[in-house]
Amino acid sequence: MSTILAIESSCDDTSAAICTQGRVVCNVIANQTVHRQYGGVVPELASRAHMQNILPVVQQALHKAGLAPQQLDAIAFTQAPGLIGALLVGSSFAKSMALALQKPLIAVHHMQAHVLANLISQPQPSFPFLCLTVSGGHTQIVLCHSPLSMEVLGQTIDDAAGEAFDKIAKLLGLPYPGGPLIDLNAATGQPEFVFAEPQVPDLNFSFSGLKTSVLYFLQKQERLNPAFVAQNLSNLCASVQHTIVSILLKKLKKAAEQTGIKQVCLAGGVSANSGLRTAFEQLGLQQGWQTYVPAFEYCTDNAAMIAITAHYKFEAQEFSALSASPSPRAQW
Ligand code: KG4
Ligand code: ZN
Repeated sequence: MSTILAIESSCDDTSAAICTQGRVVCNVIANQTVHRQYGGVVPELASRAHMQNILPVVQQALHKAGLAPQQLDAIAFTQAPGLIGALLVGSSFAKSMALALQKPLIAVHHMQAHVLANLISQPQPSFPFLCLTVSGGHTQIVLCHSPLSMEVLGQTIDDAAGEAFDKIAKLLGLPYPGGPLIDLNAATGQPEFVFAEPQVPDLNFSFSGLKTSVLYFLQKQERLNPAFVAQNLSNLCASVQHTIVSILLKKLKKAAEQTGIKQVCLAGGVSANSGLRTAFEQLGLQQGWQTYVPAFEYCTDNAAMIAITAHYKFEAQEFSALSASPSPRAQW
């Protein structure tokens, strides 16, 4: 029996979760609202907020699980990728606990954890499976052979899908983070504006061109009608969402065809998008896939996904030295 405390602090959510023998017992998340007024995450403010939140969040997780720190078998933390100052808060806290309690330390890769969020609840995909991980910082198609063996088949060469949602939302005058607001407005609109999809080879993605073409389109329309955005907000949101979803799913379909795999998952914050979820389910039915999407609280950044990944690492006895340093880059 292993009981693991996991800490996630890679961006703007401070989270602590506990899992016992691969079952998530609790998942506490403190969101940082301070960034909204700046239209994006301010790294320095994120680090400070993590410093304020981390102790109460960990204490709450232990309280919810009804555990004393001495009952933990290991302490896990997000090692990479992320904002370095934010990662340092979580990793230093985890190391201090591991040292004080004399328990093993487990370093977890945030992107692997997003994929393994699909193993938290039932039903679960069987191996090998494909996962489209779409978040504010990353867009990847991952081939998952086993919990600790994954291969990136394709990824964005510039902006991430969530970044595209947020940056285009900003062009439309929506506050940060704009992705959920595009989703909300798209529900009452039609995708009547057509934006060109980028031609990127292999299974890679590009989203920076879409942002630029929306910008030029809006500038042109607003010269003719200054109220264009206000008058067409729902249709603009539906069109942008339709284009992003189409770019994502075309590559996912290609990956499934190339690998012959029919177990297909979504992961990451953008998998909360209703247009993506619906189109993914429809494509899955059409292609004869078995499709999986984690519960919403495990799609956006959370420590439960770090805990489940740490569970597999614990089983494999993959522990880290106290000198394991966090890294802003995404090496696997
Ligand atoms: O995985 P996540 O919580 O954090 C990162 O690791 O980046 O993803 C956050 C991203 C943001 O870009 C946010 O706008 C986007 O997920 N997002 C959405 C929706 N909910 C969250 N994008 C589109 N539609 C949504 N419903
Ligand atoms: Zn993430």
